[in-house]
Amino acid sequence: MVYCLCNRTLDKKRRNSLTKEINKEELLVQQEYIEKVKAINAKREQMPLAHVHSFGCQQNVSDGEKIKGMLAQMGYGFTPETAFADLILFNTCAVRENAEDRVFGNIGALKKLKEKNRNLIIAVGGCMVQQEHIAQRMRKSFPQVDIIFGTHVMHTLPQMIYEKLSENRRTLSIPESDGVIAEGLPVIRESKVKASVPIMYGCNNFCTYCIVPFVRGRERSRRPEEVIAEVKGLINDGYKEILLLGQNVNSYGKEYDFGFAKLLSELDKIPGKYKLSFMTSHPKDCTHELIDTIADSRHISYHLHLPVQCGSDRILKEMNRHYDTAHYLELIEYAKKRIPKVALTTDIIVGFPGETYEDFLGTVELMKKVRYDSAYTFIYSKREGTKAAAMPDPISDEDKGKWFRQLLDVQNSIGEKAYERFIGDEVEVLCEGIGRTADGLMTGHSRHGVIVDFNGTRDMIGKYVTVRIQKALPWAVTGELVSVND
Ligand code: SAH
Ligand code: SF4
Ligand code: F3S
Repeated sequence: MVYCLCNRTLDKKRRNSLTKEINKEELLVQQEYIEKVKAINAKREQMPLAHVHSFGCQQNVSDGEKIKGMLAQMGYGFTPETAFADLILFNTCAVRENAEDRVFGNIGALKKLKEKNRNLIIAVGGCMVQQEHIAQRMRKSFPQVDIIFGTHVMHTLPQMIYEKLSENRRTLSIPESDGVIAEGLPVIRESKVKASVPIMYGCNNFCTYCIVPFVRGRERSRRPEEVIAEVKGLINDGYKEILLLGQNVNSYGKEYDFGFAKLLSELDKIPGKYKLSFMTSHPKDCTHELIDTIADSRHISYHLHLPVQCGSDRILKEMNRHYDTAHYLELIEYAKKRIPKVALTTDIIVGFPGETYEDFLGTVELMKKVRYDSAYTFIYSKREGTKAAAMPDPISDEDKGKWFRQLLDVQNSIGEKAYERFIGDEVEVLCEGIGRTADGLMTGHSRHGVIVDFNGTRDMIGKYVTVRIQKALPWAVTGELVSVND
């Protein structure tokens, strides 16, 4: 078996060519590999099947859709079962240790499948293996893995698969790079109604706890005209909800002097019936202009996901977040004033190194002031190579666990009543399927992103309906159908 350490053999020129936009020639080279793999697969008795699983955030899920797009062009069908697959690909996440443990567990379990089927190809890509120490551990301890590829070389997957099929070559490709933008990759979307559109990649913020800037490279935006054309195309194809993705969408478009608020306004002008939403917004760059744009728009969701991380100014400084609680609360107040019944959600880390119980109580207090609809709460996880990993961390896991549960209790009691503000409202909902709150109900989401279950029928799926909200649950509302609109 040939073993190729692509990143180690790259000369500087090739490395530089891996920054920023991947040019057409490089993509044409990959297109040739796609054709070669397709020819090999066409000779098989049955269509080969791929199992693709993306761990982690929406960005990874979106990458997974492109991976599937390339695999389909190579002649693969898809299976949700690893046992039936000819190719298994895990697209991994590194944000917390438990995310990585899960991937290691899943890969370990594939050993038996590989023993049964020596032709099975196992590939592992994404954020986790972009870290050198993890990639090397995977190479040494998991010989069943054939292809290990980092976040900057996803578009070269056809070549890696071809080399495995034709030369039995094992590949590890994790080049160092500031990051790439590869336009025009094929996509197989998970949904026919909702589509994710990355508008930028990478992150420059280096929050001291976070691995993302190390594994996703520097912040870079797609050209506004590319984003606008893609969204127009999706709306013309009948998609009803477009989710714009970036680690910090508020700093979109610096390269083009075309800010995020401007991008949103342009997208909002596209004719049709659809919803625009986005994630994630960083409080340091979130502006009144953005909030005004949402408030004055026709299509933008009345939902702001604004991760606060912590309610202590001292810890926010240690986290390198570049805002304080006063700035954050001012933004929240403005959003509440401008956007009718705005839905607010957040991310919170409990137990950052050096955080005291008093600091933690600051988070509790902030949570009570804002009254979030829901909050994603995490216990701090040490990430090798980040600044926080070197900070003293004296609080025990047990205490952190207690604080974490205390915070959940506070949020649960706020969340229980949060949706009561919608009772009596008439809201428009795209009927998406069968509801889960009670038998016989249909479901959809409101402009606030809230799940709305109602007394509809299956023939309404894909149509807009108006519902009068009658009851609030902690995670959904229920109501009565008023009209079917189209
Ligand atoms: N770019 C986004 C978040 C990306 S990661 C933002 O800045 O808001 C998603 C969430 O994971 C973060 O908001 C943070 O709350 C959490 N997170 C990131 N690193 C973490 C770590 N080391 N331990 C625990 N939670 C972490
Ligand atoms: Fe991580 Fe901070 Fe960047 Fe978000 S903004 S991805 S938390 S470094
Ligand atoms: Fe995880 Fe990478 Fe997203 S680390 S959260 S998959 S950017």
